[in-house]
Amino acid sequence: MAKVLIIGAGGVGGVVAHKAAMEREAFSEVMLASRRLESCTKLATEIQQMHGRTIQTAQVDADNVPQLTALLKEFQPKVVINVALPYQDLHIMDACLAAGVDYLDTANYEPPDVAKFEYSWQWAYQDRFKQAGRMALLGSGFDPGVTNVFCAYVQKHLLDEVHYVDIVDCNGGSHGKAFATNFNPEINIREITAKGRYWENGEWKETEPLSQSAMFDYPGVGERRSFLLYHEELESLAKNLKGLKRIRFWMTFGEAYLKHLDVMQNIGITRIDEVEFQGQKIVPIKFLRALLPDPASLAQNYTGKTSIGCLCEGIKDGKKKRYFIYNICDHAETYKEVRAQAVSYTTGVPAVTGAVMMVTGKWKGHGVFNMEQLDPDPFLEDVGKRGLPWHVEER
Ligand SMILES: NC(=O)c1ccc[n+]([C@@H]2O[C@H](COP(=O)([O-])OP(=O)(O)OC[C@H]3O[C@@H](n4cnc5c(N)ncnc54)[C@H](OP(=O)(O)O)[C@@H]3O)[C@@H](O)[C@H]2O)c1
Repeated sequence: MAKVLIIGAGGVGGVVAHKAAMEREAFSEVMLASRRLESCTKLATEIQQMHGRTIQTAQVDADNVPQLTALLKEFQPKVVINVALPYQDLHIMDACLAAGVDYLDTANYEPPDVAKFEYSWQWAYQDRFKQAGRMALLGSGFDPGVTNVFCAYVQKHLLDEVHYVDIVDCNGGSHGKAFATNFNPEINIREITAKGRYWENGEWKETEPLSQSAMFDYPGVGERRSFLLYHEELESLAKNLKGLKRIRFWMTFGEAYLKHLDVMQNIGITRIDEVEFQGQKIVPIKFLRALLPDPASLAQNYTGKTSIGCLCEGIKDGKKKRYFIYNICDHAETYKEVRAQAVSYTTGVPAVTGAVMMVTGKWKGHGVFNMEQLDPDPFLEDVGKRGLPWHVEER
């Protein structure tokens, strides 16, 4: 049994807090800390009512390393689950090192003033985590996260060499709003409006934002147009999969979503640089975030399903084979269980599974790890039972 500290009481943090509270064997105590205490107390009350377990709460600015270190030293968790924003990753890793605590997140570091995300900043912590005898697990959400583990599973059990991977992500649900994002709007819009990128034959190839698309038949949802995006798991999987020739990432967007995004970009409200407004400096995308619905608030009336998986092609015993490994998740079901929509749920459940792997020693090591570097079997067994059953089809 071990103590766990969750940082970030947003859409994903809510799911992590519910599921960690429901995990009575691995976690002896659960604490939820966030920038605003009221975000934590609201969730703690809901968790007490729904699952009969008391979790502790705390106010913390995760960008304030001494303040966070003091909280970690006082509470003494075995692991921190970071589900605040990617901007906080390095500060939370610094505090974990200072307090001697293991670290887990679901999104790689992104500097606030440049719309760019890559693992270099976090991989640079490798020696420090090794020397401290601590573990940092990067990207334990769904994508990155379960998708990396799906690839590791295919590599371990189904193919001798994985040559082609297409990660396909569909939210076939409907929240009834004209425009809303399913996770933090600022992070989501920065990701989607960036140039696309995929890896082929050892090189990165760049595409204009949302310029390449293809139809894909998603189990549980049906055919949907999917757009090529850059996504962070491509970087680590291109490094860690044996014999890989190409890896790409695709995501579905509805016409109304794309139309709104186009208008917002044309009028400049997705800009991430400061502009002068009535004698004050504001960052337009942060202002936009304040206007858009909070992703957690979409949950109650959400209908439909998400369907996310990896299409992997390669060779087994000299023969060409193709497998699709995927999960389908229903928005209404996740609302019933933990008052969240499926995008938050599919991120929060694997974060809890990752933390359980770490505190039970099923996954252990010193240093910084991406998900595909660890044994996929115990993780997939746990995540399936915890609420995200997965399936494999030969195609
Ligand atoms: N891998 C995946 O599959 C996947 C998918 C979706 C999202 N994600 C990642 O999951 C994370 C959470 O997303 P979300 O949709 O839950 O976002 P969200 O609803 O905006 O929640 C983020 C929370 O972080 C807290 N926070 C922000 N700055 C903080 C700071 N300096 N100190 C302490 N707390 C701080 C906020 O706290 P207050 O409310 O207290 O102000 C907010 O509640 C993001 O990093 C996102 O990129 C990963």
